Amino acid sequence: MGMEIKRILVSKEEIAEICARLGREITEDYQGKKVVLICVLKGAFVFLADLIREIDLPCEVDFMSVSSYSGQHTTGVVKIVKDLDTDISGKHVLIVEDIVDSGLTLKHLRELLATRNPASIRICTAFDKPERRKVEIFVDYIGMQIPDEFIVGYGLDLDERYRNLPEIAVLNSDTAPADDQSETAVSDTAEVVADE
Ligand code: IMP
Ligand code: MG
Repeated sequence: MGMEIKRILVSKEEIAEICARLGREITEDYQGKKVVLICVLKGAFVFLADLIREIDLPCEVDFMSVSSYSGQHTTGVVKIVKDLDTDISGKHVLIVEDIVDSGLTLKHLRELLATRNPASIRICTAFDKPERRKVEIFVDYIGMQIPDEFIVGYGLDLDERYRNLPEIAVLNSDTAPADDQSETAVSDTAEVVADE
């Protein structure tokens, strides 16, 4: 374990249980339908890989990469770095995220995808930090709610490190990004631009 890691918050076994439960719920809810899982890169790729194997439905997968534009305004705008390869019109879309923090990324992603006329849109996240929410967003499937701490592992990174940890860990507070820098530190891409 690295010096920066304070403790393990979610074990491999707990993660496996979360994926199995979410997979069961999704399978039940979408009976008779086909679902398109949309992985929000990069963080969600590990979760998507586990989740999809717990879903017993006809599935398609597509990937999208977005960067958060945020300045002083809480509205935040999301820029598409990599768009979907497929047309989602008329399809049942399930957005798969690693973690919901302020909610800004998902709010904008959901609004953007809604303009493409899918049959439905739902959101599934592995982890949720409800205390950090800046905008209201309904999340249909939540793996686990966690306290307001910076986590890494299971696809989640700190400056591109730790994505390969098989469990979720909390970092020491001197290595976790300070709050005013967190937009940069938590971004999935290097492209974070103030909107002013
Ligand atoms: P939001 O727009 O503030 O909800 O941002 C969510 C994104 O920030 C997630 O998809 C993650 O990529 C990143 N993020 C938020 N919290 C953490 C964390 O604790 N560790 C690593 N990445 C995080
Ligand atoms: Mg993400």
